[in-house]
Amino acid sequence: MPVCQCDESRPRFPELEAVLSEYSLIRGSLITILQKTQDIYGYLSEEVIYHISERTGITPARIYGVATFYTQFNLQPTGKYLILLCEGTACHVNSAPLIAEAISQHLGIDAGQTTSDGLFSLSVVACLGCCSLAPVMMIKDPFGEETYGNLSKEKALAILDEIALRDNLVAANDNQAADNQTAARDNQAATRDNLVAVNDNQAATQIDQQAASERQASR
Ligand code: FES
Repeated sequence: MPVCQCDESRPRFPELEAVLSEYSLIRGSLITILQKTQDIYGYLSEEVIYHISERTGITPARIYGVATFYTQFNLQPTGKYLILLCEGTACHVNSAPLIAEAISQHLGIDAGQTTSDGLFSLSVVACLGCCSLAPVMMIKDPFGEETYGNLSKEKALAILDEIALRDNLVAANDNQAADNQTAARDNQAATRDNLVAVNDNQAATQIDQQAASERQASR
């Protein structure tokens, strides 16, 4: 039977240790723990929910209940850019449903889904807290979040197109930089090989010359 090689003394979710140490024993901290967990991992996996349950004593069913009640929580991995489109009252009466429909058609996904290239996820949420800018969407990425207000269908789609374009450019630059690094490393290796070959040739020539001198001297 295979023996488990895992180190039982290591925390299973080391990135979460500081959060759990601070909040696990404080009553009423579940939402804070879930928010910080999602900030770390991007979503709430089944494994992490059971881990939080073990550490807090709150049943998994209760944690699932909270996680599914609030639209801010994701139970599946999200795309690189998470679109939170507000459908609170102020946004709703200012055409948010039409914007949601336009985004869905543009990206080919419904709310709760992710584009096949993993770039965008769409989530429809309750009030984002900036109703004076209605209709509003927030876009979260690995580096932070940005809020866009006074949206129209056209403006929302233009923002998404610009993000996709910028992301492509960054990816292309990263690829170019990686190619350049590889080429520079290859050149260095080739130069080193050439130097070794030149040194070998010089050494061989010296040995030949020495042998020739010795033959000459012995005649
Ligand atoms: S209702 Fe959309 S930000 Fe408040």
